[in-house]
Amino acid sequence: MYKKNNIILLLLLTMFIGCSDEKPVIIADFDSDIEAIISKLTLEEKVGQTCQITLDALYFRDDDNQVIEPGKIDPDKLEEAIVTYRIGSILNVGWHTYDRGTWTQILKEVNAPFNNGLTGVPIIYGIDAIHGVNYTQGGTLFPQEIGLAATWNPGIAEKFGTITAYETRATGIHWNFSPVLDLGRQPLWSRHFETLGEDPFLAATMGGAIISGYQGNNGIDSEHVVACMKHFVGYSNPQSGRDRTPAWIPEKYMKELYFPSFKEAVNKGALTVMINSGDVNGVPGHTNYNLITKTLKGDWGFQGFAVSDWEDYIMLNSIHRTAEDIEQAIISAFNAGVDMSMVPYSPQYKEYCQLMIKAVKEGKITQERLDDAVRRILRVKIKAGLYKDAMNQLNEYPDFGSEKFKATGLEAALESITLLKNNNHTLPLSMDKKVLVSGPTSNNLIYLNGAWTHTWQGADTAYNTVGCKTVFEAFKEKIGPENCLFSQGAELYLENGFEATRLIASDDFKTKAAQSDIIVLCLGEYPSTEKPGDIRSLNLDEEQLALAEMAYATNKPVILVMIEGRPRIIRTIVDSAAAIVQAYLPGDYGADALVKLMFGEENFSGRLPYTYPKYDGVIEFYDHPRSVDRSKSNDFKAYDPQWNFGYGLNYSSLVYSNLRLDSKEMRSKDSIKIEVDITNSGLIDVKEVVQLYVSDKFATIVPNGKSLKGFNKRLIKAGETETVCFYLKIADLEFVDVSGRWNSEPGAFDITIGNLITIFNLKI
Ligand code: BGC
Repeated sequence: MYKKNNIILLLLLTMFIGCSDEKPVIIADFDSDIEAIISKLTLEEKVGQTCQITLDALYFRDDDNQVIEPGKIDPDKLEEAIVTYRIGSILNVGWHTYDRGTWTQILKEVNAPFNNGLTGVPIIYGIDAIHGVNYTQGGTLFPQEIGLAATWNPGIAEKFGTITAYETRATGIHWNFSPVLDLGRQPLWSRHFETLGEDPFLAATMGGAIISGYQGNNGIDSEHVVACMKHFVGYSNPQSGRDRTPAWIPEKYMKELYFPSFKEAVNKGALTVMINSGDVNGVPGHTNYNLITKTLKGDWGFQGFAVSDWEDYIMLNSIHRTAEDIEQAIISAFNAGVDMSMVPYSPQYKEYCQLMIKAVKEGKITQERLDDAVRRILRVKIKAGLYKDAMNQLNEYPDFGSEKFKATGLEAALESITLLKNNNHTLPLSMDKKVLVSGPTSNNLIYLNGAWTHTWQGADTAYNTVGCKTVFEAFKEKIGPENCLFSQGAELYLENGFEATRLIASDDFKTKAAQSDIIVLCLGEYPSTEKPGDIRSLNLDEEQLALAEMAYATNKPVILVMIEGRPRIIRTIVDSAAAIVQAYLPGDYGADALVKLMFGEENFSGRLPYTYPKYDGVIEFYDHPRSVDRSKSNDFKAYDPQWNFGYGLNYSSLVYSNLRLDSKEMRSKDSIKIEVDITNSGLIDVKEVVQLYVSDKFATIVPNGKSLKGFNKRLIKAGETETVCFYLKIADLEFVDVSGRWNSEPGAFDITIGNLITIFNLKI
């Protein structure tokens, strides 16, 4: 007991000492509008600005505290939260998707206190519109981020952002908790599909484009929203693979891998950031002063505000155990730089406000730090146009859910879906063949969309978009019911909270296979995210593998279509497949896109945004340090993926030639011009993803085998040759050295584009 108390004392002392050193980073641009507002706010009003609650904390509930459906805002609860406690922000949807009329009504009600002059500051409403307005019926649903990354087309990413912003504003909401900028380097992680893949350059480029789409390039007008960079930083790399469990990330990897996408987003003007719920190197994201205040706000000059993730100050006490009580938790997160807390329930928000007020009065949170947080929040509210535009009308935004938006959703899916294998020209399919469509993911939209679709986990079929097709429906429409047979073969379900598969009706499957010329077998995952999406193994389950074997046993050509958020290991069924297509989670228009690609109406152009693993014991990334390649034998290669990062086939025949540099030497201030010719000797136009990799041959720290430093998706018409040009600067050759600083070293570097390789020297 004595010992325990001593430890506690020591802990408190360390925290106290820690606090006194930790200064807020104050932004220089004191805007007169902000000063005018803040000078009139009381302590209570300022504290309210830092508090965010969830919508259903305002709903009528029954005696068991369950929301009464359909959810309705209780005016007394609203008044207490917004007028009495001066809460500054609301988030989320009440359990399931709404139509625009319902959203308009909700936004009207929550904005009423400000519009009626009962409060001086408008609330900012936030939503997870992460692959389109996924909580609004009739909106345009795109591929999830992993699929957007697979397009390798920043133009598509920006269009996705623009349309999503427009449709989010069409529901009256100004703030989108997107994009996820975490790097997909832990394929077990349940949110792998929410990332832009494993490479920092690809993620930074695509993430930056999404932010431009969300926020617009000329400020946030009535068609744009405030973006939110998620989740700063290191969240995506839990060592165990399970959501919100510890990550251990050396400084070198933090700087080279995990920072770049966030840094690029700050450069693009992203206005808010959400903090990592997990802990990195033993420090919870929410108390990491070095990362939030020093690096993000200080070194990078981020001027917006940092919002916590769901209940995360509470987790500091209950899960991370770095805070002995809720008061200490709130203080440690706020002093680390978290400006707004996603509390988000009632009565917890009241306790949060009371404890914050107490902490300021007792000097545990300085007035300076509180004012800094409130200034940041007000700055975003002003920039979002909330002071002039806290409402919108249902008859505005005529393009919501329009055909032209849907066409862009389809275009994104078309450029994303990736052809991984195509033996003997199995694809494209001809119209005269009888097709058996099968597999657990073949006949429901929930599998094409994944989580964050109409509900949090996306598994409720009740809200599927009317008029959008499943894979089976799209095939049937294309070749007619007489040529399209269906036998699901297996179904996915949840067993004690874990995904599971059960085989069904094998006789039906065999009979219909015998009547068909070809089998399209859709495998994959049950929709899920966050903790509910934790899995025990990356291997595709035995039942789905057995279904594939059953299909192979029919001796009909089998095309595997993987509809999955994570690259599940399928090694044992790869060789016997005639073709393999990676669809990722392609969204509402994914099945239309699949059919167009598989029948050759469109050419494939998607490329893997990650290394597809072959063995669960050999998870390596394409840019691994050279020392990884110490293979035990030819049969046991250390780096032995199923498919490489950047891989993808198409129906054209491309020849790379003439890789040339304008100089074989680079000096400190130069850049080198690199050109390559690509000829499409096939009969079909293609959008080719030209990728430039650099390899440092020797360095004082083990160099990477190769790193992506440029890419360009280019239309190359049949029979034509295109020249693609890149510029390489010295910054592209830098790495984080033993002292933790970015540095470049003279010496030889290889440049690889396609199957061509050349060398140049850096002279410093
Ligand atoms: C997720 C965030 C999300 C937030 C609000 C959290 O559980 O981690 O990504 O933005 O909920 O829905």
